[in-house]
Amino acid sequence: MRVLVAGGAGFIGSNFVRHAVQAHPDWQIVVADLLTYAGNLENLHDLLGGQRVRFVKADIADRKAMEALLAAGFDYALNFAAATHVDRSIRDPEAFIRTDIYGAFTLLEAVRRHPVERFVQVSTDEVYGSLREGSAREDAPLMPTSPYSASKAGADRLAFSYFATYGVPVVITRPSNTFGPYQHPEKLIPLFITNALEERPLPVYGDGQNVRDWLYVMDHCEALDFILRRGEPGVVYNIGGGSECTNLEVTAAILDYLGRPRSLIRHVRDRPAHDRRYSVDGSRLRSLGWQPRTEFRQALHETIDWYVARRSWWEKIKSGEFSDYYREQYGSEAGS
Ligand code: NAD
Ligand code: TYD
Repeated sequence: MRVLVAGGAGFIGSNFVRHAVQAHPDWQIVVADLLTYAGNLENLHDLLGGQRVRFVKADIADRKAMEALLAAGFDYALNFAAATHVDRSIRDPEAFIRTDIYGAFTLLEAVRRHPVERFVQVSTDEVYGSLREGSAREDAPLMPTSPYSASKAGADRLAFSYFATYGVPVVITRPSNTFGPYQHPEKLIPLFITNALEERPLPVYGDGQNVRDWLYVMDHCEALDFILRRGEPGVVYNIGGGSECTNLEVTAAILDYLGRPRSLIRHVRDRPAHDRRYSVDGSRLRSLGWQPRTEFRQALHETIDWYVARRSWWEKIKSGEFSDYYREQYGSEAGS
């Protein structure tokens, strides 16, 4: 099997490649990634250099590059490539429109000309917008509120249109907030783990009562693998973690495990249009036979242990472009 992983040098993509190499000895994987600030070849350090995984630096919004890439022929293609951080999409939406919408279009066009057996468009639960109560089924209305989630919703529906119009075998996933090893420290869990390790403040937006449903990256990768084999073209699959927590609950769990004081918590200015709660109904995938295996606390502790052990990985990231971003985003409130 020849498998294309677009965005495979990022957090979930690199975990997926590692999972796939172990689970599928017959897969040959090509990772295509632009290596933006969020992409990192160190995420694939143990996988490159062998016979199974090849890396190509490529922009999914570059039509010629996508045409040449897909012309090589693939059985499966998965699109993880995206600009992914909500706060950055608020500061500067352009990269989100360019990669998340136009890039998805360019990739879909190349796949239309060079057919694959399955194309997985990794969307997000954020396309449903904020839910006061209950959980969103796949047929719930899409009400994205940030430039990030709106761009993802555009790509999600564009991918569906390529199934409906051209018969491209597209499967769309809507996973919930994912965490685990190799996640960029701009996101909540790795930011708070690494700030706590550096004894810097933990900047909680607003009152910290916003709820996210946390999904461990290993479970996420298994779900994608399951959907590649069992998912039906033209169908959307929610991937829920089954672990709804407020941000303050997550923050307290990190501080407690690391033995750091609650006094590190700083309530800072809220994110504009900050979605109060995400929750997906995972029954479609459950009825096919998949559900998450990992308990949230256990997975959080494993993740914290990983960041403790891999200090050089995240220190390098935090000392580069990220330190300017952090200063601009958080100001002096959060110890920048
Ligand atoms: P990430 O930011 O860690 O990785 C994104 C990768 O895409 C990076 O390697 C980056 O270099 C690459 N990329 C960006 N622009 C590109 C372009 N124009 N061409 C080629 N590559 C490009 O993101 P992640 O957390 O691994 O998310 C992967 C996918 O999963 C995204 O589509 C995201 O929307 C979706 N998702 C993420 C979460 C989460 O909690 N992390 C939850 C639901 C859905
Ligand atoms: P994030 O990891 O950015 O994911 P998303 O916004 O895509 O859900 O944020 C998760 C939650 O944590 C969200 O409610 C915003 C909040 N948050 C903070 O309170 N402080 C922070 O510094 C960050 C990055 C996020």
